[in-house]
Amino acid sequence: MALWGGRFNSGPAQSVAKLSRSVDFDWRLAPYDVRVNLAHVSALVANGVITPGNGEVIRAGLKALASEIQSGAFTFNDTDEDVHSAIERGLVSKIGAVGGSMRAGRSRNDLVVTDLKLYLNDHILEVAQLISDLIEAFALQAKQYTKAIAPGFTHLQHAQPIVFGHELAKHCQGLLRDLDRISDWISRNNVSPFGAGAMSGSALVPTPELTAQELGFSGLLENSIDAVSDRDFAAEALFIFAMIGIHLSRIGEEFTLWNSTEFGWVTIADEFSTGSSIMPQKKNPDIAELARGKAGRLVGNLTGLLTTLKGLPFAYNRDLQEDKEPLFDSVETLLVILPALTGMVSTATFHPVKIAAMATQGFTLATEIADYLVGQAVPFSKAHEAAGACVREAEKLGIELHELNSKFLAGIHPKLSQISEGLGSLLTAQGAIDSRKSSIGTSSISVEKQIAMVNEATATARDWISNAQERFSGMMSL
Ligand code: ARG
Repeated sequence: MALWGGRFNSGPAQSVAKLSRSVDFDWRLAPYDVRVNLAHVSALVANGVITPGNGEVIRAGLKALASEIQSGAFTFNDTDEDVHSAIERGLVSKIGAVGGSMRAGRSRNDLVVTDLKLYLNDHILEVAQLISDLIEAFALQAKQYTKAIAPGFTHLQHAQPIVFGHELAKHCQGLLRDLDRISDWISRNNVSPFGAGAMSGSALVPTPELTAQELGFSGLLENSIDAVSDRDFAAEALFIFAMIGIHLSRIGEEFTLWNSTEFGWVTIADEFSTGSSIMPQKKNPDIAELARGKAGRLVGNLTGLLTTLKGLPFAYNRDLQEDKEPLFDSVETLLVILPALTGMVSTATFHPVKIAAMATQGFTLATEIADYLVGQAVPFSKAHEAAGACVREAEKLGIELHELNSKFLAGIHPKLSQISEGLGSLLTAQGAIDSRKSSIGTSSISVEKQIAMVNEATATARDWISNAQERFSGMMSL
C-alpha cells in the first residue's frame, strides 16, 4: 500500500517501486514500528486529535497485528513500500479507514529513526551478552594456565617468557572495552527523535517528551531538524561492531596460527572444526578464519554508512534509507559468529608441554641479563650491548644463554661473571616470569589477580546488561 499519491497522476514506474522498496529488509523493524505507533496513538488521544474510542480501536488493532507479526500470520506483500506502509495496510484491513488516522502528527522520517533506535537498543544488548560469554570462556581457559610457561611474542618473534594464562587473558581486555563502549553508547543515544515530524516538529502532538518516556527513552533530541537527520548513533554502533570484529579477527588469527602443524599449540574440538571436500585428512580452523574474515564486512558496513552521511544535506534525505542494511548485517553477523567462536574457545585443548618447550628458545632471556646489569648500576645502554654480545656468542656456538661459560661472561662485562654463580635462576623462564610482579605483568600471582578482576568486571557488565534488557523489554510489552 502506498502512503502517498494524491498529487500524482500515476503510480511509480516498476523500476522505481523496486528501487524505492525497503520492506524486504526493514521488516525487521515491524515490532518496533507497532510499539512507536501505539505510543503515538496514546499521544493523539491525549491531545484530542482522535477520540478515545477511536484510539482504543486503533490500539486494539495494533496489538492484534503485533501478535500476528510475531507468529508470522501477518507479513509484507508485493505492494508494500516499507515496513510503515505494510503496518498501516495491515491495520486498515483489520479495523477499516479509521486506521489511517494513526498517521496524523508524525512522519515516516521521525518514525523510521525511532524504530531503528529501539531495534538497536535490543540488539546491541544481545551482542553485549554474547561478548560476556566470550570473555568468560577466555577467563576460564586462562585460569588453567596461570603457571604454564610460554614464549611471548613481538613481531611474531620470541620476545620474553610469559605465563600462557596471560596470553589468553589479554583477549578479555579488548572485549571488556567493547562492553564499556556499548554501555556508553546506550547512555548517549537513548534519546528520542520522535515528534520531529517531517522536520519541523509536530503541530498536532506538542508532547514528544511524554511519548519519549513511554517508549523507554531517557530524553528527547533537542532540534527537530537534527532529530530526523542524525545517524551518529548508527555510525557509532557500526564502529562498535567493527571494533568487536577487529578483536574477533585477531583472536581468529591467533587460533589459526596456533592450530597449524608448525605451532601445534592448540587442538580445536571436532564440533568447532570443518573438513575438506577433497583432502580427507584435513581438519580446518574455519571458525577462526571466519571470525577473521567477518571483520572485513563489519568495517565495510561502517565505512559505507559514513560515506553515505558525508556532506549529506539536512534534514531527511532518502539516502538515509541506506542506514539500515549495514546495521542489520553487522548485528546479524555478530550474532552468528560470537556463539561459534565462544564454543571454539571454551572447547579448545591447549598443549602446555609443547608451548613451554619453546619458552626460552630464541634467547627470550636476554632482557634478564640486561635488567640484571642495570640492577648492578650499569647504564641500560651498556647493559643492552652486553646482553646483545651474549646472544651473538650463544647464537654462534649454537647454545642457550645459560650455557655461556663464566669466562666469556666476565669478558663481556665484569659484573656478568656473577651470573654463573648463583644467579642461574635469573636465566630461567620461571625466574623471568616471577620477576614481573607488577599488577599488569606476567607473574602467576599478577595474572591470577588480573583474571579475578576480569571476572568481576564481567559480572558487573552482566548486571547492567540484564537491567537494561529488562527495561527495554518492559517498554516493548504492549
Ligand atoms: N523507508 C524510508 C527509510 O528507510 C523511510 C521513509 C521516508 N521516506 C520519505 N520519502 N520521506 O528511511
